[in-house]
Amino acid sequence: MPARKSRTPKAKAAPTYTNGTLSVTDERTGSNYRIAIQEGAIRATDLHQIRTGPDDPGLLSYDPSFANTASCRSAITYIDGDKGILRYRGYPIEELAASKSYLEVAYLLIYGTLPTKSQLADWLYHITHHTMLHENVQKFMDGFHHDAHPMGMMVSTLAALSTFYPDAKNISDEQVRYQQAYRLIAKVPTVAAFAHRHSMGMPYIHPSNDLAYAENFLAMMYRPSWTTSYTPDPVLAKALDTLFVLHADHEQNCSSNAMRAVGSSHADPYSCAAAAAAALYGPLHGGASEMVVRMLQEVGSKDRVPQLLRQVKEGRRLLMGFGHRIYKNYDPRARLIQQIAEEVFAVTGRNPLIDVALALENAALSDEYFISRRLYPNVDFYSGIIYQAMGFPVDMFPVLFAIPRTSGWIAQWIEMLQDPEQKIARPRQVFTGHPERHLELAGVKAPIRKPSRTVDTRPKPPA
Ligand code: CMC
Repeated sequence: MPARKSRTPKAKAAPTYTNGTLSVTDERTGSNYRIAIQEGAIRATDLHQIRTGPDDPGLLSYDPSFANTASCRSAITYIDGDKGILRYRGYPIEELAASKSYLEVAYLLIYGTLPTKSQLADWLYHITHHTMLHENVQKFMDGFHHDAHPMGMMVSTLAALSTFYPDAKNISDEQVRYQQAYRLIAKVPTVAAFAHRHSMGMPYIHPSNDLAYAENFLAMMYRPSWTTSYTPDPVLAKALDTLFVLHADHEQNCSSNAMRAVGSSHADPYSCAAAAAAALYGPLHGGASEMVVRMLQEVGSKDRVPQLLRQVKEGRRLLMGFGHRIYKNYDPRARLIQQIAEEVFAVTGRNPLIDVALALENAALSDEYFISRRLYPNVDFYSGIIYQAMGFPVDMFPVLFAIPRTSGWIAQWIEMLQDPEQKIARPRQVFTGHPERHLELAGVKAPIRKPSRTVDTRPKPPA
């Protein structure tokens, strides 16, 4: 009898790096340098030794948007942008989305392994028992104007939480760090739902310990205040939980970078998460899903797609939900989200914007402008259409991104604090301002100074 084929796909090899040496000739001086290449990178501080003379502060690398600069070594999330691959802790995103809950994935990101049965029970217990907000946090949220953007409320309330948990400042204590992980992951859905209820002028619905993570969030969002019995649709709760899996981490994106940068000054994790959420709010990052739906609503119908593409190609606007710093292929999350859309529409009815989006994607993917720049739909292109079908107001979309990304931020923050190489994030600059000049004060002659020698305060390269 032929052997049964294993159902587990063959593991793909990890990226292979060839270590070696980079030989550099500085044609200004004719000097040669040998710079070590390790794990596919050179150390920017190794460039410091390259100078034209004692007054030269040494060569810097200039990279204004970190386009080709690794800011850390990380073992959390792997992306191959050319092949469209995304893995959390080695597991392909497709497998995690198909078989794991968001909270299992959050555990995986933070602890590095999937939880055992008892670890999961313990983890769920802790998350479930930290979902409540202090009464004064609710009063704080009451102070927002009725039309405050929910993401603005989320950013501010995360920062406010730091004043409720002053113990969180003790970041060198491992127990304290994990305690804040429970609190943050547990409380973000409550803050998100309260922000929504506040803008609707509806009473807050408190979290329920009987419901799973996504169900509990849906109940806090939509349960009428006059009843205690409300069960969210299981298909929608499952779809939302899977969307949370897809959004949980994405290596050194803008908001994770903000989390690490602020955390590098040893600020407490609530202040760091507020900074990360502020970065996520921007329309080039997590705010894009809101902008995609607004753009699709403006386009309105398939026949107006060419007009939008013309405006994009003339450089008058961006095609929101398209393009990515790392993916130069189809974003694997966008593919999975397309499948989830069909499951959601089977319950909610078809969101007509999906047809405009599909027509837009088809037109863009066969257009030279997008082909030559390798611009594909990203995670935000279809997510908003699903959220809208599920009844979320458009301005809640970035908040829906912030809920699951919180686990990624915490994983990145903990990894940064445990990394002995990490110091305060403090980039260098290429100074382009005025050379020294003097004020002309009435009756006072400006001192004549000899030109000063530039003092180099940078660390000396190893001998
Ligand atoms: N529409 C039109 N042109 C674009 C777009 C777009 N969405 N994205 C990039 N380009 C063009 C860009 O103008 C440039 O053209 P040229 O070479 O002629 O100057 C070229 O493509 C390269 O783009 P870039 O600006 O160097 O790319 P970047 O890596 O700096 O920016 C991005 C990445 C995501 C900010 C950008 O693609 C963008 O603004 N997209 C729209 C906003 C969006 O959907 N954001 C969500 C990102 S995914 C979710 C997340 O992680 O937040």
